[in-house]
Amino acid sequence: MKKLAYALLVLILLLGAPLALLVNSGVISASSLKMIANTQFGIGVESPSIDESGNNGIYQLPPGFTLQVYADDVPKARFLRFTPLGDLLVSRPHKGDVILLREDKNGDGRHDGLETVVDGLNRPQGIDFHQGWLYIAEREQVGRVRFDKGRAIGDYESIITGLTGDGNHWSKTLRFGPDGKLYLAQGSTCNVCVEEDERRATMMRFNPDGSGGEIFATGLRNSVGFDWSPWDNGLYATDNGRDLLGDDFPVCELNLVEEGNFYGWPYFNDNNVPDPDMGPDPQAANRTPTSPAHGFKAHNAPLGMTFVETSTWKGDFERVALVALHGSWNRSSPDGYKVVSLHFTNSGIEERDFLSGFNQDGDILGRPVDVLQGPDAAVYVSDDYAGAVYRISQEVSGLQGNIAGRSVNKLDEQAPPWLATSNLTAMATEGAQLYQHYNCASCHESIGTTVSLKGLNERLGYNAVIESLREARAPMPLFPLTELQQKQIAVYLLQPEDISDSGQ
Ligand code: HEC
Repeated sequence: MKKLAYALLVLILLLGAPLALLVNSGVISASSLKMIANTQFGIGVESPSIDESGNNGIYQLPPGFTLQVYADDVPKARFLRFTPLGDLLVSRPHKGDVILLREDKNGDGRHDGLETVVDGLNRPQGIDFHQGWLYIAEREQVGRVRFDKGRAIGDYESIITGLTGDGNHWSKTLRFGPDGKLYLAQGSTCNVCVEEDERRATMMRFNPDGSGGEIFATGLRNSVGFDWSPWDNGLYATDNGRDLLGDDFPVCELNLVEEGNFYGWPYFNDNNVPDPDMGPDPQAANRTPTSPAHGFKAHNAPLGMTFVETSTWKGDFERVALVALHGSWNRSSPDGYKVVSLHFTNSGIEERDFLSGFNQDGDILGRPVDVLQGPDAAVYVSDDYAGAVYRISQEVSGLQGNIAGRSVNKLDEQAPPWLATSNLTAMATEGAQLYQHYNCASCHESIGTTVSLKGLNERLGYNAVIESLREARAPMPLFPLTELQQKQIAVYLLQPEDISDSGQ
């Protein structure tokens, strides 16, 4: 019965039948209607002006944070990614393009210009960089284009084709993992059903050239955002729970996605509660559903997420992920519409509001989609309803310092004592392997990088290199390195002089 109502709703939407009928008949609320208009037709609200933002009481943030409207000219902004030069890419599925917001060099809190990077795409959503390429997940394929000095160069090439883009959750998200592989999340075609294409409602994994595709994890209804925890490389993904089982069931999920695991959909919802429409899982003998790591409130629609590097932040922000909650479309009172922080503590994951205020008593001002930390340690949030990107920062002096500014002479006063007693050749070999293992080259040797490690030994000493590893600043991840491994990497990076000197 509920399935039928849902199908009917989708049909009516597709046919464009008078939506007022649905509202009057009480099937959906007026605010849900606006949300549907936003999702289906891209109809949104006015972007906030800069005067409206900041600390004027509309948006709530934790103490010490300020919000700026970084862009108010980006209708339907979805996913975000920083280029190696610090410009911000924004994907816009409904416009079929990926645009670039030039870095705010004049410091007025706004981007310095908007340019189109690639257009003519079919519903591009997920974007990421890997070894000089910009990768884009479209509705039915993944493509890539060379990216250098802030521009796409050469032809856009398809590397994964033949994906299906029918049904509800056609958008696809991609990211490169710490293992250098391309991860692709694809949502289900439906609210609840058995998929014909077994790749739907899964997380897949590919080689960077698109070969070697495999299903990594299943039963993920619509995992739009995902990221790896910097402390143990755990892959966490948001997942949107099914609709039409009431206002408060089931939870939307955060899952720790591990290879081969099944996350329940369509047979189980919430904490592995059997689905009322589906009956028993026919594959029950071969699989048991994995419980979510965290439950968001039902219909809050968690989308983009990111683990943040918070060592330069004041306040209680250790081991934190930020998650954008797009907000409900089928709840009697609208809910979500905010960015929450997830605090990974010894006793579990604690959810707190980070950026809220978009829901003014049911009047919706914005819908967060993606959240990302910039090279300036600030957090950027896209909003496809208001067509905006917000920048959230702490007013700590020096925090906005750019990458180039920080590699000024940090040579140690004197060499650390352990150097004299170490086998530098063996350490450099180990260091080289670690450098390879963590794919440091993906950032430090990518085309157009501003953080090349060439000539590092003229700028940094051993202690400074170890410190950059131990207190890595975003976007550089914090790697789970032991003290010895940090030293090994330092030796590797600071040779050749030291190696050849060591024999004398
Ligand atoms: C995701 C991209 C990324 C990866 C992967 C990465 N780094 Fe970095 N790294 C950066 C960025 C960006 C900076 C500059 C950060 C800043 O100054 O705020 C940096 C800074 C450094 C610095 C300090 C350089 C300087 O001149 O100040 C060292 C040393 C370094 N990285 C080593 C490594 C090593 C070793 C690895 C692999 C274990 C690695 N990085 C992996 C992005 C990355």
